[in-house]
Amino acid sequence: MDRQTWTPEHYRRSNSRQFRTAIEALELAGLHGGRLADVGCGSGEITRELAARGYAVTASDFSPAMVEATRELCWGLPVTVEVRDARKLELEPGAFDIVHCSWVLHWLDDVDHALREMARAVKPGGALVLQWSRGNPRHMSDAVTMLDDVMRRPRWRDRLADTPFAMQQHPADEVVARLAAEGLVLDVPPTELDAQFVADPVALGQIMKAAGLAEQALKLGDDADDFVTEVAAEMIAAKQLNPHNTRLIARRE
Ligand SMILES: C[S@@+](CC[C@H](N)C(=O)[O-])C[C@H]1O[C@@H](n2cnc3c(N)ncnc32)[C@H](O)[C@@H]1O
Repeated sequence: MDRQTWTPEHYRRSNSRQFRTAIEALELAGLHGGRLADVGCGSGEITRELAARGYAVTASDFSPAMVEATRELCWGLPVTVEVRDARKLELEPGAFDIVHCSWVLHWLDDVDHALREMARAVKPGGALVLQWSRGNPRHMSDAVTMLDDVMRRPRWRDRLADTPFAMQQHPADEVVARLAAEGLVLDVPPTELDAQFVADPVALGQIMKAAGLAEQALKLGDDADDFVTEVAAEMIAAKQLNPHNTRLIARRE
């Protein structure tokens, strides 16, 4: 999957909830300044806020456009930012007071490397703050099957043949086991956030276009809005509006 199709312009229009939940989680971990790694930094608003709150931030994202947007937004602040696939993440071991990664893990087909590298980067007394969608297998929804069904409709089928829906599922218990193997202990155990997508097909379609259906939207060009609105209408009709957003905070003692 080539997720370099994420655009900061689209993402900024719909990321206020992501920003709010990230800051809320980071405040739970305690924000005392120092060094912070922001993995999958997106368009840079969270990175900027953390730099303004006294952190030297090492930020990275898979998308060159997101990295450029973060660089511009954080100009003059103690932020370094680089293009980096989280599946090939490299962070200095034991160097960070906080490692933060919000709303990225569900886009990775394999999280083992990223989790190991993030856990190892946490210094003694430091924290790893993770938030991701579809973290709760007990609530496994059939939203993805439903999306696949829409993509197979005649109007879209041929044009979307090589862009399947990219969202993955990483159950919280598996994530916790990997962090424990790296010596981290849970501070805030996996918690499902109270989140629902907006039940308006146009607004929800635009949210999907900025993130989960960005690749498909790019492929479809002028027809993208029709497609994302059609998907959103199906999600609303099927009551598939819970992203099962999950948060955990783990610490190195
Ligand atoms: C929903 S945004 C989250 C951005 C930011 N963390 C926030 O909470 O607003 C997901 C981000 O993950 C990035 N991403 C997707 N796949 C990635 C990968 N393999 N490695 C690093 N970043 C990736 C996307 O480019 C996008 O910026």
